[in-house]
Amino acid sequence: MQLLIDSSDPREIAQAHAWGIIDGVTTNPTLIAKAGPDRLATLKNVLDASPGVVFCQVIGWKELDPLKTQARWLHRFSERIVAKLPMSVSGIMAVRQLKQEVPDIRLAVTTVSSVAQAYLCGKAGADVVALFNGPFDLESDQPVDLVTPVRRIYDRYGFKTKILSAGRFPRAFGEYAVAGTDYCTLRFEYLKLLFEHAYTDKRMNNFSKDWRTAFGDQTWPQS
Ligand code: E4P
Repeated sequence: MQLLIDSSDPREIAQAHAWGIIDGVTTNPTLIAKAGPDRLATLKNVLDASPGVVFCQVIGWKELDPLKTQARWLHRFSERIVAKLPMSVSGIMAVRQLKQEVPDIRLAVTTVSSVAQAYLCGKAGADVVALFNGPFDLESDQPVDLVTPVRRIYDRYGFKTKILSAGRFPRAFGEYAVAGTDYCTLRFEYLKLLFEHAYTDKRMNNFSKDWRTAFGDQTWPQS
């Protein structure tokens, strides 16, 4: 599974990449808009901040031609970009047509919020389906894992589309990993939560207390 940071802030991206476990970046129109007034500079800064894959969404929803022309532009701007097309009839048509017209273009379909929509993306031959699992995490007290059913459908029908799950909290992140998602993307504040757990804090504090009681500030020799 590749772990991505959902961000357009080069500082956050660089901080996360320093951990040594981040494989790339997802962006979206909201994140790009938040990053500053020069959208092209923002995209270049994101590409400079991450050596891995960068997902970038075309602007528009239901007009086929503008979706296709922007996806082609993104593809030419960097070979590391996966162009995100919207979940719509035009988005699915754009996947089918671009895949025939530009065989090496890399395409995702984004804002996918149902198994039915994910089926359409697999059928269309998208390289990646971006499952927006995160909002379900917030709105439901029952686990809503879209990855498991979509993985089963793609495996059953031989769709080669990879699954990107957008998530929020560690429990759901673990479910996506168990379900076999190919990518998982989290915003920086949620990525940092992956390292945290109350039991980890409790045991580390107990270890420190017991050691300090016996040995004070001594550690094992460090030379
Ligand atoms: C995914 O590719 C999107 O950029 C984003 O992660 C969607 O997740 P959100 O619902 O947390 O914004």
